[in-house]
Amino acid sequence: MSIEWRNVMSVGDPTVDGDHKHLIDLINAFETSISGEIDHRKIARVLLGLVQYTGEHFAREEELQLKVRYPYYESHRKQHRDVLRQLQHVLTEYTEAHGVVQDSMIREISRFLKDWLVGHIIESDLRMKPYIEKMRAEQAAFRRGRRPSPPPLGLKPPQSL
Ligand SMILES: [Fe+2]
Repeated sequence: MSIEWRNVMSVGDPTVDGDHKHLIDLINAFETSISGEIDHRKIARVLLGLVQYTGEHFAREEELQLKVRYPYYESHRKQHRDVLRQLQHVLTEYTEAHGVVQDSMIREISRFLKDWLVGHIIESDLRMKPYIEKMRAEQAAFRRGRRPSPPPLGLKPPQSL
């Protein structure tokens, strides 16, 4: 069963939300690749793409966390490193396995990816949302403060003597 993006998953930042949508697409692509006739090389390619994209996404997410002064940056970064290591391990195990062992790994990987994604977005990343919203509100207030206000209607700005 494929996963669908829902508004409740939004962390309030278009870049990270876009990344999460793409991660969902990649996991759904993995699901598609394991339904029907099994092609291990194709599955490994999909997995490799997922591992690479996850690394890029984590870097972007960590950059945002620094920008919004997320207080749990260090522990979140550690989580990222652990997950990436696990994903790389899964990929290596899978590509080095053969025959029935490789076949039997597919369902396990699928469950791992879904559990990880739900945990990553719903339980972990959503904690960043209040900090992202605060930064956006501060930026909006700053922009309002910097913009010169227009003179009142019907009145000319005072002339210097
Ligand atoms: Fe994320």
